[in-house]
Amino acid sequence: MQCATEENLTDLAVQSLVKHLHEFVREVDLKEGEWLTAMNWLAKTGQLSSEKRHEFILLSDVLGISMLVDAINHRFPTGATPSTVMGPFHIEGSPEMSMGADMAAGLAGEPCYVVGTIRDIGGRPIAGAKLDIWQADADGMYESQLGKEEPFLRAIFRTGPDGKYIIRTIAPPGYSIPMDGTVGDLMRETDISHYRPAHIHFYITAPGYQPLITHLFKKDTRYIDSDVVFGVKEELIAEFKKQPAGKTPTGEVSSKPFYIVNYNFTLSR
Ligand code: BEZ
Ligand code: FE
Repeated sequence: MQCATEENLTDLAVQSLVKHLHEFVREVDLKEGEWLTAMNWLAKTGQLSSEKRHEFILLSDVLGISMLVDAINHRFPTGATPSTVMGPFHIEGSPEMSMGADMAAGLAGEPCYVVGTIRDIGGRPIAGAKLDIWQADADGMYESQLGKEEPFLRAIFRTGPDGKYIIRTIAPPGYSIPMDGTVGDLMRETDISHYRPAHIHFYITAPGYQPLITHLFKKDTRYIDSDVVFGVKEELIAEFKKQPAGKTPTGEVSSKPFYIVNYNFTLSR
């Protein structure tokens, strides 16, 4: 019996791709002008892509391919926190911050505290888990879109010996995906919404556990039922509870109303 090598797997994948592409061309009865438009659109998509902006990944996201690849590759056991799309805005090497530090210091927005415990499937707290967090600002913009020189709205936190974490930030807004490229041109040809519901990104790792790339979505927020990249999962929707000015989870006193989000993550082996 022959073993499936990487080479013949690639060969099979190409055969399957050709079969499906031919079926598509037949099904839509593709005209030569349409074919040329598609070739030029693909070329422009490549020209627009760089280390800072990957328009093909954005395309994969809006076509639901990223979420499908995620579903195939991250079949976590029941009880584990589910993963979702990473998106194009994660930046490596965020600054390490201590428990409760404000990753939005000096920025406009409603203060927001995210608190909880990271546990294993058996309910045991995981000490020293790394939480790499990033989000959009109050205008729905990420660091790379603003061309910032310094880290902006992103940080790394670590759980304490009891598996607990406390993050201080600002409440995230819903926002539009970048519409100034070829994906935007494509979206404008449809009546599909190009918005994402309010969320905070998490990339959680701990030695001996499966890495978890996920979001927390704000409950009852706009676009929660129409996320353009299909990233929402019921288990990832969290209540952002509005609190009056006063004592916060870090013990400091806020002069403004603030949000508290209580959320426990569960990692699998
Ligand atoms: C994001 O959540 O940052 C994102 C994900 C997919 C496409 C665009 C943005
Ligand atoms: Fe995002």
